[in-house]
Amino acid sequence: MLDDVLKPIHGGPDGGPEPIYDFSTNANALGPNPVVLRYIQAKDPSRYPDPLYRNLRRLLAEAHGVQPKQVAVGTGTSELIHRLVRWNYLRGPLLLLKPTFSEYARAARALDLPLWEVETPEEFLRLLPRSSLAFLCVPNNPTGEVYPFLEEAAARAGGALVLDLAYYPLLETLPPLPREAWLLFSPNKAHGLTGVRAGYLVAPLDLSHFQNLAPSWPVSVYGEGLLEGHLDLEAQGWLEGAKRELHRLRGLLAQGLRELGLAVRESPANFLLVRVGKATEVAKALRERGIRVRDATSFGLGEWLRLSAQREEAIEALLTALASVLARVY
Ligand SMILES: Cc1ncc(COP(=O)(O)O)c(C=O)c1O
Repeated sequence: MLDDVLKPIHGGPDGGPEPIYDFSTNANALGPNPVVLRYIQAKDPSRYPDPLYRNLRRLLAEAHGVQPKQVAVGTGTSELIHRLVRWNYLRGPLLLLKPTFSEYARAARALDLPLWEVETPEEFLRLLPRSSLAFLCVPNNPTGEVYPFLEEAAARAGGALVLDLAYYPLLETLPPLPREAWLLFSPNKAHGLTGVRAGYLVAPLDLSHFQNLAPSWPVSVYGEGLLEGHLDLEAQGWLEGAKRELHRLRGLLAQGLRELGLAVRESPANFLLVRVGKATEVAKALRERGIRVRDATSFGLGEWLRLSAQREEAIEALLTALASVLARVY
């Protein structure tokens, strides 16, 4: 039965029974952020949100030093990615640097758009002037790379260069972002609230037309609460503390994996890649022991698992289970 469900393109729920420990999503394992949760719980579900999200977009615009018309909210950044790809204004070749998050290519394939998937920064920079829409994930999912050529990429882009900042708030140090880039924010990860579906886009132009590509009220009142809470300084303070602990836990996990003789590629955020050989087989065996991990095969990394930093008890359970699974598989 698990065979059906274990062909993941995302971490998280896979249709099987709830695991005891879940290393498969990169959401902040120390969440939910109690400050942001208060904003969500204070919302009144008996009312519609403002269909134009005027107050919310004004607050987000102020926080980013732009005009409200440069901000669009959506049902999570995955929805905004699909909406960007559908926008006629950006219609044309879509450029990606592999391996990366799967939704960009998924959205392009659904529309039969020309999809340029390249594997080196040189090729990416060479094709940028001729692409209509290009995505870079900062830090990249699943490799954790923070590309050193963001400024150059923004200057060369022929169309929109979109930086997906899903894990940016969880980075140890925040790299500067080019002013010309389009920015996608997904605060539900950093605050450990991925079940609340809301994200936003900040662009260097007027997004009024783009907003008409979504139905009215794409973000629920709870999503509004998430985005408002994200801007609260107390919520940011909680996140700073949680981040330090997540980085410590990531280091602990990496050390334990290396002690098992495994190669590890640590991101500067809250996740890492570990080379286990037959990733799908190992992921399945761990799943049967109540531990969910992200098999990186769908990223083209068939020997690797992606793991997020979890609490110490979970790390101990994973390391014990992995040692016994590896002894059986090899
Ligand atoms: C890199 C990246 N971008 C965007 C998303 C989508 O996030 P959401 O739709 O929850 O905002 C994810 C989710 O896993 C992701 O990993």
